[in-house]
This record gives sequence, C-alpha cells and structure tokens, in this order.
Amino acid sequence: MRFEKGMKVLVTGGAGYIGSHAVRRLKQAGFETLVLDNLVYGHQAFVPADELIIGDLEDRDLLARIFKEHEIGAVMHFAAYAYVGESVTAPGKYYRNNVSSTLNLLDAMQQAGVLHFIFSSTCATYGEPQVVPIAEDHPQNPINPYGQSKLMVEQILKDYDKAYALKSIRLRYFNAAGADPTGGIGEDHNPETHLIPLVLDVALGLRPHITIFGTDYLTPDGTCIRDYIHVSDLADAHVLGLEYLLKGGESQVFNLGNGSGFSVREVIDMAEQVTQKKIAVVEGLRREGDPAILVGSSAKVKAVLGWNPQFADLHNIVSTAWSWHQKRFGASS
Ligand SMILES: NC(=O)c1ccc[n+]([C@@H]2O[C@H](COP(=O)([O-])OP(=O)(O)OC[C@H]3O[C@@H](n4cnc5c(N)ncnc54)[C@H](O)[C@@H]3O)[C@@H](O)[C@H]2O)c1
Repeated sequence: MRFEKGMKVLVTGGAGYIGSHAVRRLKQAGFETLVLDNLVYGHQAFVPADELIIGDLEDRDLLARIFKEHEIGAVMHFAAYAYVGESVTAPGKYYRNNVSSTLNLLDAMQQAGVLHFIFSSTCATYGEPQVVPIAEDHPQNPINPYGQSKLMVEQILKDYDKAYALKSIRLRYFNAAGADPTGGIGEDHNPETHLIPLVLDVALGLRPHITIFGTDYLTPDGTCIRDYIHVSDLADAHVLGLEYLLKGGESQVFNLGNGSGFSVREVIDMAEQVTQKKIAVVEGLRREGDPAILVGSSAKVKAVLGWNPQFADLHNIVSTAWSWHQKRFGASS
C-alpha cells in the first residue's frame, strides 16, 4: 500500500523517551500520528490524549483493530524492554516482548498491507567492538539477550522484506541523551540506568554520588568512552528514514551516534559546568561486559539520508537534559 496524504504513522512506544520525541518531530514534518503504548514505562502526559491507545503489542486482536479502524501508512516501532541487566536474568521477558510482540506487529502490518517500518535497534547488537568507530558492517555478536533480541528482529525484517516487500530502516542507536529544547518531554526511566540522568540526580541531591565503574581503562582519563546522541537528532533521523522509504527507498541499516565519544569523567565535568554543582564521585571496579570505548560511525546515515545533527556537542546534550531534569525531578516539581 502506498502512503497517501492523511494517513497516520503508528508509533509504538510513543509515550516513552525516544518515541515521544519522534512523535513531535513527525508532527513538525506534517505527519499525523497514533501512539500505541502499554504505559509500563511510558508517560501518558508525553503524548496528546486523543492520539494515545493504551494497549499491549501482545494483543493481536487489538493490533488487527487498530489497522482496521485507522488509516495507517507506516509504523515506527520503539516499544521494547531495554534493561540489559534484566535481560540476562529474565531472558524470556525480553524475547517475548522484543521479538514475539514485534512479530505480532509485523504480521498485523502485513495483513493490512502496510509496508513501511522504522525500527529501534541498538549498538548492543555489535557486542564487543573489534574496531572503533563501529561501522554498520562490523560483525554483530551481542553479549546479552537484549542485544540478541534486537538482532533477531533485524533478521526478521530482512526476511519480511524478501517475503512481503516490507521495507524497513533499522536504526542502531548509541546512547540517547538530552531532551527536546522546547520542553515538556525528556528522559524519565524508572529505574534509571543511564549515566547523564544519574549524574543530574546527584546535582539535584537525589543521589549521594555517582559511581564510576573502572578508572583504569586504556583511555586518556582511564574511564569508559561512550557515544551520546541527542534525542532530537535521533528523532530527526527517524523522520528522514521514513521519508526515504516513502519515496521508494530500499531497506537500510544505519548507525545513529555522535561519531565522537565522551568519557564518563568528561560527562561528569560537563554536568558540573552546566549545573554549577559539585558532583560527588565514587571510583568503583570495572563492570563485566563494559568495553573501554564504544563509538559509532554515522557516516552512512549522513551520506544516504542527509542527516545533520544539530545538538552534537556535549554541552547541548547535558544542558537540555538539565533543563528537563530540574523541572521533572527538582524540589518544586
Ligand atoms: N535509550 C537509549 O539510549 C536506547 C539505545 C538503543 C536503543 N534503544 C531502543 O529505543 C527504543 C526506545 O527506548 P526508550 O529509551 O525510549 O525506552 P522507553 O522505555 O522510554 O520507551 C519504550 C516504550 O515502549 C512501551 N512498551 C514496551 N513494551 C510494550 C508493549 N509490549 N506494548 C506496548 N508498549 C510497550 C513502554 O511503556 C515505553 O513507553 C527501545 O526499543 C530501545 O530498545 C534505546
């Protein structure tokens, strides 16, 4: 089915962190949106009430109904569980939600003749990097069920393209960070495991300190280096990917990262500069499975989609995160 004017983009997980930013960008680009989210981790206030369907991707009848009752022309699929540690202790939960539920969605799409799909994959599909920056053709050897579940979906998407001409863009994100500079939405995971919001919690006095896991890595300051990408830049890439598919583009895979990494210490220093607060640090031992450097090359997405990140520097990332974090978690909120 061709995407006709007036059709909607179904955004699964659109009440979550990245999905809600994508909904905003889609609207700015002139698309109509419909969000499906079970609100297990999402926030009702992140999306317009009349565009939210509260439900679960495991519900096949609901999915069939959504595609019947709404004119859906494309799907952006953010809904998943994304706690690496939990995926190791409860793998079934991850394979069921991230793989099985995605199959429900793809089958409902295929039955409804909807053939454009944007997928949230992850740098966790690469596992231990053999070279950095990591390009899309780097071997994929995930070291946890979370990464494995995303790799499985990537494979399924290749097969659905061959079988049904379902065209997809698989976006392998590095670490999403920051918040929409216009306000109202941002990172609010519970539990939170990401470095920048944890550091900002310390600045707000909500945590006593931040632990640095490993200070003896072979990096300039001894701490791990990671690639942070601003969530609004990430959202832009989704819209560009969708437009590319709607123009008849073939399925593609792209990394989405900053291209330059920042160390844990650099992030903490920037947080001190932005917040004007002292961040207490505890130096801990290395964590198993944490590579020294994880940085992606985003050359391909820039070349093919013309993606041009607007908030790539660390100051922008941390300051937009801080504005959001203070409003959401500060004393007066
Ligand atoms: N945050 C990152 O840095 C990062 C990095 C790489 C990949 N990703 C991927 O990006 C996507 C979005 O991540 P996020 O940080 O916004 O997470 P998030 O938890 O904020 O958003 C996911 C949303 O999906 C919803 N959801 C989960 N399972 C569902 C189901 N079965 N049915 C309906 N809704 C369901 C949750 O309620 C939540 O609102 C995920 O697929 C994640 O694996 C995130």
